[in-house]
Amino acid sequence: MAMEISVTTTSTPVDEARLAGILAEPGFGNFFTDHMFSVEWTPEHGWHDARIEPYAPLSIDPATAVLHYAQETFEGMKAYRHPDGSVWSFRPEENAARMLRSSHRLAFPELPVEDFVEAVDALVRVDERWVPDASGGEKSLYLRPFMFASEVFLGVRPSQHVTFMVIASPAGAYFRGGIKPVTLWLTEDYTRAGRGGMGAAKTGGNYASSLVAQQEAIAHGCDQVVFLDAAEGRYVEELGGMNMYFVYRDGRIVTPETGTILEGITRASIIELAGKMGHQVEERKISIDEWREGVESGEIAEIFACGTAAVVTPVGALRWEGGQVASATSDTDGGDITMAIRKALVDVQFGRTEDTFGWMHRIS
Ligand SMILES: Cc1ncc(COP(=O)(O)O)c(C=O)c1O
Repeated sequence: MAMEISVTTTSTPVDEARLAGILAEPGFGNFFTDHMFSVEWTPEHGWHDARIEPYAPLSIDPATAVLHYAQETFEGMKAYRHPDGSVWSFRPEENAARMLRSSHRLAFPELPVEDFVEAVDALVRVDERWVPDASGGEKSLYLRPFMFASEVFLGVRPSQHVTFMVIASPAGAYFRGGIKPVTLWLTEDYTRAGRGGMGAAKTGGNYASSLVAQQEAIAHGCDQVVFLDAAEGRYVEELGGMNMYFVYRDGRIVTPETGTILEGITRASIIELAGKMGHQVEERKISIDEWREGVESGEIAEIFACGTAAVVTPVGALRWEGGQVASATSDTDGGDITMAIRKALVDVQFGRTEDTFGWMHRIS
């Protein structure tokens, strides 16, 4: 049965002039829409009390379980305004399915895929005026569904009160002033995920554990950190918030296999899209030696990273303590295949080309 959502609209929405100012320069994660979605779960009542209400701070007890044991999962997705004014999301059922997988790992109850999608759609409809006009660019409304242990209890066990919420935040284009390759820092001290760990789940703890490595990257003048596998420290896993792809001279493209990485929806879409564009796509282990030797010999022609935020971003040089691998392409441009894949995806998301995969989901 579809979830019943009660809607209480705000009596103090952001006025049109201020909204126009925010949408002109939204940045990322700075501004939030007028409303938020919440639904509660308890063992006795299941999911209940679904509601949209004015966006407001939460008042939570200091003993709320999530503050202590980090039982939490989240998602990241976007709503896009198409040239005809309609609003769409990209494969939302994939985010819902990933949240289910994350929920299993974090011992949460299951939120049905259709309820997840309906919650997101309902919030976007109420706050539709916050979906920026793409105007030929890449502005969107970033959507953040998240689930947390809301029971007030300090025992270590799965929470018996769970809250699922959706908030939304207008987002500017990831790249301002042109697409520029990111420089990567290879962390040799920290790993992101081990066998049996939480690497494949989208849960706050993974991001908390990545911060010190990201700090190290910035301290070394790099943009992002690359994690290797925990067992051998040999195989490329992913960046702090993006998956990776390697483009070979013969047109093959390779992405690290899954298990301990966060399986991106952008990554999965590129597997299909690149296949259709005629590339052979391989999901397999790729070692740091293969990266270094491949770039040195020219066998690896392009490298890129992908995720909801940037869609596709070219990767430049890789550095570590005492060494580096040069950029596979020039330091100022992404390679042709990288940029072609990027354009193909962005054009589908923003409704600039036919959606032959049926990936887009109409919200309003
Ligand atoms: C660790 C990590 N890997 C990969 C991704 C890419 O996932 P997606 O393409 O679904 O945004 C993300 C992004 O959200 C991430 O946080």
